[in-house]
Amino acid sequence: MGRHFVLINPPYDFSDSGLYVHANFTELSAFLIAYRWLISSRSTNTTTIAETMTIKFRDIDETTLALSPDTVISSFSPFVCNDQKSEGRIRRIIKIWFKTAKRVVRRLFGRKSSSSTRSKDVIKDEYEVTWSRGYAAYDLDVGCRKPEPWLVRGKGIMADRSGVPRWRNLILNAAIKSIKPRRVLEVGCGNGINLILLANQFPDISFTGLELTDAGNRVARDLQNVATFPSALAAYPFIPATDPEAFRRINFVRGDATAMPFDDGEFDLVFTVLSIEQMERVRDKALAEIGRVSGGHVLNMEPFAEANSSLLRRAHVFGRDYFRGKIDDLSQYGLEPIWATMDFPQEVQLGAALVLSHKSI
Ligand SMILES: C[S@@+](CC[C@H](N)C(=O)[O-])C[C@H]1O[C@@H](n2cnc3c(N)ncnc32)[C@H](O)[C@@H]1O
Repeated sequence: MGRHFVLINPPYDFSDSGLYVHANFTELSAFLIAYRWLISSRSTNTTTIAETMTIKFRDIDETTLALSPDTVISSFSPFVCNDQKSEGRIRRIIKIWFKTAKRVVRRLFGRKSSSSTRSKDVIKDEYEVTWSRGYAAYDLDVGCRKPEPWLVRGKGIMADRSGVPRWRNLILNAAIKSIKPRRVLEVGCGNGINLILLANQFPDISFTGLELTDAGNRVARDLQNVATFPSALAAYPFIPATDPEAFRRINFVRGDATAMPFDDGEFDLVFTVLSIEQMERVRDKALAEIGRVSGGHVLNMEPFAEANSSLLRRAHVFGRDYFRGKIDDLSQYGLEPIWATMDFPQEVQLGAALVLSHKSI
C-alpha cells in the first residue's frame, strides 16, 4: 500500500503551542482504532474496578500515618512553579495526550519485541541512564526548572519532579514511625534516595535496598564512600537527619526482585515506590517474592488499576506497559491490605495509590 502523507490543518493544527501533527494514513487509522479501543475498554472496565474495590481510598489523615495533607503539600512547595511557568499547563497536557496515543498505537500495532514492551533490557536501558546522573537534582535551589502538570487534592499545579522524593520521604518517614520496624527493605530502590534520607532519620534501623541496574547500585555505593555528605542533599529533606552519617550503613544489593537473595520473613517492612510499576512482565514472581521476604508489613506506592481508571491514565499505563494489577489482587500473595490512600500529589497521566498491607500467612 502506498504511503499518503497528510499535513493535518486546523482545527487539528497545534503549531501555535509548539505542537503540530504530521501523520500518514496508516498512522491515522491506527490512532483512530486505538482511540476506539480505549473508549470501549473504558466503558466496560473502569466502573467495575471502582465498584468492586474491597477497601476504599481514605484521606491521608485517616490512615495510620498521622500526617496532615497540608504538610505533604508544603514539603513539595520549593519545587512548585510560579504562575508564569504554569502558563504552559494545557500545552503540556495536550503533549502528554499525543505521546500517550502514539505509545498505545505502537503497543497495539508495533513489533512485539519493540521497546514498548517493558522487558528487563528496556528497563535497564532506561534506568542505567537515569541513575548515572547522580544526586544533583535533589537540591532545594533547583526549584522549578522543568514544569510538569500535577494534581494536588484535585487542583492542577505545575511542579518539578526533583521535589518528589521530598514529599515521599515525609510519607515513608511517617510509615516507619507508625510501624516501628527493625529491618526494612526497599525493592527497586534506584539510586537509593528514599533509603538515604530514611537511614539518616532512623539511624537505629537496618536498611537494605535491592536494585536491578548497575548504575543505581553503583552511585548509591559511591555516595556511601564520599568523605563529606553533599550539603545540598543534607538540606533537601523536610525532616532533618538524626545522624547524617547513618546512610553509610545501608546495605545496597544489586539483584532482581523476582529472585531475591534474602530469607523468608527477613524484613519487618518491605516497601516499593513505583518499582512494581516496571514489573508488569514479571508481576507474579515479584509480588510472590515480596510476600516471601516480608515478615510483617508491606507498603506499596504503585500505579494500581484502581488509581488509574481515567481514559488518559489507562492509556498511559497500557502505552508504557506499566503494572496493571489491582489492590485486591495482593491477597493472592499472602498480603492483606489494611488501608489505601491517593491523598498526595499525583501526576496527571499516572495515578499511584499507597497501600499498607500485613502478611496474612
Ligand atoms: C521508577 S524507579 C523507582 C526507584 C525508587 N524506588 C525511587 O522511588 O526513586 C523503578 C526502579 O525499579 C527498578 N526495577 C525494575 N525492575 C526490577 C527488578 N526486576 N528487580 C529490581 N529492581 C527493578 C528499576 O531499575 C528502577 O530503578
